[in-house]
Amino acid sequence: MTKHLLLGQTLGFSGNPLLGDWADAVDFDSVGGVLIEAGRIVATGDGAALRAAHPDAAVTDYGAALISAGFVDAHMHYPQTGIIASWGKQLIDWLNTYTFPEEARFGDRAYADDVAGRTLDLALAHGTTTLASFCTIHPTSVDAFFEAASARNMAVIAGKTCMDRNAPDDLRDTAQSAYDDSKALLEKWHGRGRASYAITPRFSPTSTPEQLSALGALWAEHPDCLMQTHLSEQLPEIAWVQELFPEARDYLDTYEQFGLLGERGLYGHAIHLTEREISRLSEVGAAVVHCPTSNTFIGSGLFDLMGLAKASVTVGLATDTGGGSSFSMLRTMAAAYEIGQLRGAALHPAQLIWLATEGSAAALKMTGQIGRLGAGAAADITVLDLHSTPAIAQRAARAGDIWDAVFPTIMMGDDRAVRDVWVAGERRVG
Ligand code: GUN
Ligand code: ZN
Repeated sequence: MTKHLLLGQTLGFSGNPLLGDWADAVDFDSVGGVLIEAGRIVATGDGAALRAAHPDAAVTDYGAALISAGFVDAHMHYPQTGIIASWGKQLIDWLNTYTFPEEARFGDRAYADDVAGRTLDLALAHGTTTLASFCTIHPTSVDAFFEAASARNMAVIAGKTCMDRNAPDDLRDTAQSAYDDSKALLEKWHGRGRASYAITPRFSPTSTPEQLSALGALWAEHPDCLMQTHLSEQLPEIAWVQELFPEARDYLDTYEQFGLLGERGLYGHAIHLTEREISRLSEVGAAVVHCPTSNTFIGSGLFDLMGLAKASVTVGLATDTGGGSSFSMLRTMAAAYEIGQLRGAALHPAQLIWLATEGSAAALKMTGQIGRLGAGAAADITVLDLHSTPAIAQRAARAGDIWDAVFPTIMMGDDRAVRDVWVAGERRVG
């Protein structure tokens, strides 16, 4: 079995830099090494020492490039790749005008295959090695995504999006068919290779209580699966949820009432939360997912990252394409920084990279398996060129330390900054 040794500036984490002093959580080596064997990272540490100890390893020397865990996009919609950057609408109008007509096309398997492959290749080119994706109501859209991910040996999470009301005729299932189809897909895909199934009600407005209840029952039968949905993204959406569920205490309660609140729950956006919702999310250990480019693009609001982290709510980071306006987790980190500034908190580059790797992995309950540059994790690795454009290079040239050198790439970088990507120990981009 071939051993690979990657040399460069290595960045990993020994703790959560959102809590306490970020510097205590960082594991940085300016001449570091990452040893890979059989698809896993088996050691990290001083580059020269690893080289001396493993003379049989094939060496790739990235010089001053930064070696990080691959980025983990904890909430996105692969069927929306074709409508990214569609102009002028806020959430409900955006769904009706752009999203639903596009999602209706995914009953066509060839179309779904094409978009699934394109989305995963775009993700890899941008340094993203794991995605948690919504599919469409069509079971074929789920098969297309998992098959495309399996062909690339990528760890992905996905599920059939369920909707039985407030959606066009050709995009509605029923409570029973949502349960049956989700169950069949879950049994087919969950735990197969690197695939994980997530039970996926789109959001409360597009599911009847009967459908939410059926999916809650399915989750109770398969508690090892994740459940992904949306929560409190825009104010008119929240008012609509109150009308549709008059007896619910709040938006989160529309999930809790039907068995859809739990530790393995993944709630996208979560911007306009009440105190009760925050404490319930924290109590049950559920995760929320920050989608900053989407929140500004669709006009949703300013996510309270530091407030939620302090309340011990697990937070992941995501593109939310195509509501999000970029496939790049670098651009996504930049948007998180900008939203932080608007809320009076300047996120440190270490905190931003942690969110895009370890933080998202924690949200997906995959800590230690992905998103980690450390022994035992999958060898899903992204190598960043910190001088990828003239504008970035001239700024990085005057950097005083690694953080000053990496921040211009976070703020101004894109796929040109991605020098290489390794997926399960295989080189994919270069
Ligand atoms: N809420 C329900 N569906 C969606 C979606 O597809 N994108 C976003 N951003 N929010 C949603
Ligand atoms: Zn979404």
